[in-house]
Amino acid sequence: MRILVTGKNGQLGRSIQKTVNADTKIGNDQSPNEYIFVGKEDLDLSSKSSISHYFGNNDKFDLIINCAAYTAVDKAEKEQELANQVNHLAVKQLAKIANNQQSRLIHISTDYVFDGESDKPYIETDTPNPINAYGRTKLAGEKALQALMPINAIIIRTSWLYSKYGNNFVKTMLRLGKDRDEISVVNDQMGSPTYATDLADAILEIISHNKFRDLGQTTQIYNYSNEGEVSWHEFAKEIFKIEKIECEVNPITSQQYPTPIKRPRNTLMNKDKIVKIFNIKISNWKSSLNTCMAILKQQ
Ligand SMILES: NC(=O)c1ccc[n+]([C@@H]2O[C@H](COP(=O)([O-])OP(=O)(O)OC[C@H]3O[C@@H](n4cnc5c(N)ncnc54)[C@H](OP(=O)(O)O)[C@@H]3O)[C@@H](O)[C@H]2O)c1
Repeated sequence: MRILVTGKNGQLGRSIQKTVNADTKIGNDQSPNEYIFVGKEDLDLSSKSSISHYFGNNDKFDLIINCAAYTAVDKAEKEQELANQVNHLAVKQLAKIANNQQSRLIHISTDYVFDGESDKPYIETDTPNPINAYGRTKLAGEKALQALMPINAIIIRTSWLYSKYGNNFVKTMLRLGKDRDEISVVNDQMGSPTYATDLADAILEIISHNKFRDLGQTTQIYNYSNEGEVSWHEFAKEIFKIEKIECEVNPITSQQYPTPIKRPRNTLMNKDKIVKIFNIKISNWKSSLNTCMAILKQQ
């Protein structure tokens, strides 16, 4: 397959590149796949003409993995038009192109399509109800994709991504923990962290699975995160514990930590579907956090 991966400079895009390169190096990649990684400089999803131009100038792809997104959750309230273009209208355009090329599309979405008011982990068919602009644009992208591509696409909803790349909660905590004696972190938002390398592995497993092989399959949504349930407060405490950082983590409520936007209270997601269909093994959040932090330490 000729595979296009967008968002090559982002956490997930870089994690996929790293895994693909490592597999090629050690000879694990026996698939005849050719990967093309592109960033904003090659394919700007904020511009309709840039998208048409890119696909007009390139050979057909068998699969597009869309890791690019407008991910500045707070800023999205003020930049709704841009967020909507990248997270919704560009996805719609990619879906049209994928249809024309008869290629498949794997699109990454978010737990923020939910309002977080459920007391049970969300399943893929639960009704979304985003409570901020970022979530609304991501949901609009999902819906546009599903309307245009009833077959040949996969949407993977993930949550709380972190990695050695870019900015994320783990890196922020490490920085703050080294500078301060105490910090306050919210303890009333629950979710599951996701190590981007684990998600990259899951995506590569899916595309090599025989259930993915045939064209014409109904478009599906799958949830993916690491296993386990945690608040941001517990997550911060575990980061400091692993790194042996002596910084007090005070639990506070979301009300005590005002941000420009509302964030969902509980976005735990049930992963039974992805496990059952693609036989994906999902690591516990603590073990993946240890893995990522060991890698960060080597840098
Ligand atoms: N991060 C999370 O906690 C989280 C949680 C749930 C779901 N997700 C979803 O998971 C996916 C991957 O997230 P991530 O953490 O890897 O995001 P990320 O690190 O913010 O990377 C996103 C990438 O998209 C690129 N991008 C932004 N605007 C673009 C544009 N106009 N044209 C082309 N590329 C553009 C960015 O390019 P530049 O680097 O040049 O800006 C960046 O490389 C996204 O769909 C996101 O919505 C993320």
